Amino acid sequence: MATSDKITLFISYARDDDKDFVQRLYHDLTEQGIDAWWDKEDIRNQGQTFLQVIQEQVFQRDVLILIVGPEAAQSEYVRYEWQHALTYGKLIYPVLRKGDYTLVPPELKNYHCYDFSTESSYRTDLPKLLDDIRDSIGKSGALVNVPAYPNHYLRRADVDQVKNSLLEDVTTTVIASARTMALHGMGGIGKTVVAIGVARDMQIRRSFTDGIIWLTIGQKPDMLQKLNALAKRLGHGGDYRNIDDATSALQARLAEMRALLILDDVWQPDHAEPFRNLIAETRNRLLITTRRKSIHDELGGQLHRVDLLPIADAVTLLNDWAGKQDPDAAAVVKRVNRLPLAVKIAGARLARGMSGAEWLT
Ligand SMILES: Nc1ncnc2c1ncn2[C@@H]1O[C@H](COP(=O)(O)OP(=O)(O)OP(=O)(O)O)[C@@H](O)[C@H]1O
Ligand SMILES: [Mg+2]
Repeated sequence: MATSDKITLFISYARDDDKDFVQRLYHDLTEQGIDAWWDKEDIRNQGQTFLQVIQEQVFQRDVLILIVGPEAAQSEYVRYEWQHALTYGKLIYPVLRKGDYTLVPPELKNYHCYDFSTESSYRTDLPKLLDDIRDSIGKSGALVNVPAYPNHYLRRADVDQVKNSLLEDVTTTVIASARTMALHGMGGIGKTVVAIGVARDMQIRRSFTDGIIWLTIGQKPDMLQKLNALAKRLGHGGDYRNIDDATSALQARLAEMRALLILDDVWQPDHAEPFRNLIAETRNRLLITTRRKSIHDELGGQLHRVDLLPIADAVTLLNDWAGKQDPDAAAVVKRVNRLPLAVKIAGARLARGMSGAEWLT
């Protein structure tokens, strides 16, 4: 399935190795239609906020290119960047710019390292690297209708728990009832955002090679329209006149596929059931988000409860929205019960000039 999404890429480098080269690489990648990011403004000097920006940028991107050189080998920031990428299943490509191959971190020794050390090797290896990246992305499931990360996205531990359950379920033989997973929790707690984090994870995308397909259900969905939307997204018509025709066509299509279907905001078991039945006895998986635990009770499968943010995460989210470190951040997030939606609203207030102390009064 083709993806219309641009390749998103993070360039990890040490300024003192060869900043001019990185600028040129950035330019060459951009010319190839790649959405690349590099720390050109030297935000590293901004300390704490830098790590947040890096975290966000690494999370938002599918690929990390590590520019290997003597300074990069020494840089704690560079290590932080590629380790994050590694932890979160991003595609990593080391390229040698200065020094020799012994400078590639031991953890990445098994990765092919491209040679960008001379003008001629750069000219031959850059197209190879781009082919390899496109090939890898091509083998990853496309994101179909998956929303973007919210502003100041904070990757919660939930994402990894859900991801690991889904991946375990994919690689082991399972009973039919384990093929759905429900994210359950109160309104505004961050269920949809956790589902976005799971959907956009590269390890998930590499496991569900036929795509990650997102459907928003809501309180009163037109089920025929939802099934048609799914058929359309699978490249299979999409104008069925009745539910039976749509489901039998979809059944045939899904039988050959390995996709992750996400139903966001389910209110009634009846609205998830047709999809659950469609993926039964196939290699596809269903992930739903719902405020109602009863939906899971009826559907079966696994359950993951999304809870309030841990206090440290809530403070990070507040400060990110505020654009500053407020001394009363902890008290503010406690007052709003660490509910992400409320933390965001309070943070936006602080960004407009109010202090945490004023907000609390
Ligand atoms: N991990 C996060 N990082 C950054 N912002 C977040 C995060 N989780 C939640 N938010 C913020 O809180 C808002 C509410 O989160 P979300 O929409 O995921 O809640 P929900 O549990 O799906 O709620 P509902 O039951 O109403 O669908 C988001 O729009 C986002 O701004
Ligand atoms: Mg939601």
